[in-house]
Amino acid sequence: MLVSGSGSNLQAFIDACRDPAYPCTVAAVISNRPGVRGLERATAAGIASEVLDHTGFASREDFDAALLARVDAYRPDLVILAGFMRILTPAFVRHYAGRLLNIHPSLLPMYPGLHTHRRALAAGDTEHGATVHFVTADLDGGPPVVQARVAVLPGDDEATLAARVLEKEHLIYPLAARLFAEGRLRLRDGRAELDGAPLPAHGMAID
Ligand code: GAR
Repeated sequence: MLVSGSGSNLQAFIDACRDPAYPCTVAAVISNRPGVRGLERATAAGIASEVLDHTGFASREDFDAALLARVDAYRPDLVILAGFMRILTPAFVRHYAGRLLNIHPSLLPMYPGLHTHRRALAAGDTEHGATVHFVTADLDGGPPVVQARVAVLPGDDEATLAARVLEKEHLIYPLAARLFAEGRLRLRDGRAELDGAPLPAHGMAID
């Protein structure tokens, strides 16, 4: 798993893995930032972790090449971006095509990029949420796998809305990884498929 910060989504996987029936294990955690809580969570759970500080690289291409080598060293079946706040190069994305998932805190295709909660509040949306999607070269634009909605409540600010969305993230991300591990979820011809049938454009809906 690749993280940049708090790692609460990583924690959701750590917690899911306590169930012996859960079909995934977290092989390693790599952070592009030193000293983040996600690294502490990995250590506390006995998971191998590494820091690969992007500020030590001359270019995005150099960083991604080094990251790819570190990730491949663990031979993962699936690479999970969990609050990894870096735009990845096409070469990196191509290398992991069909086995690279991201979670984004919005109902994609709404609000790709940053400050999603602020933007949903500013727009007066009554619903907001999170999306797990396969990663393609299109930033936050790869095929959705699962999407969860929350209500935007009167009095919400960025923090309360983000917290409500995160609760859903912690449900849908381990679910998506489980479906992948069970061989039920895959990317084919640019579409996400579940049990051999294309998923709807917004992915599976979980409330
Ligand atoms: C999550 O809300 C995730 O959806 C978001 O960062 C947060 C990380 O939280 N990711 C993005 O914005 C990616 N574009 P976490 O570190 O506690 O899992």
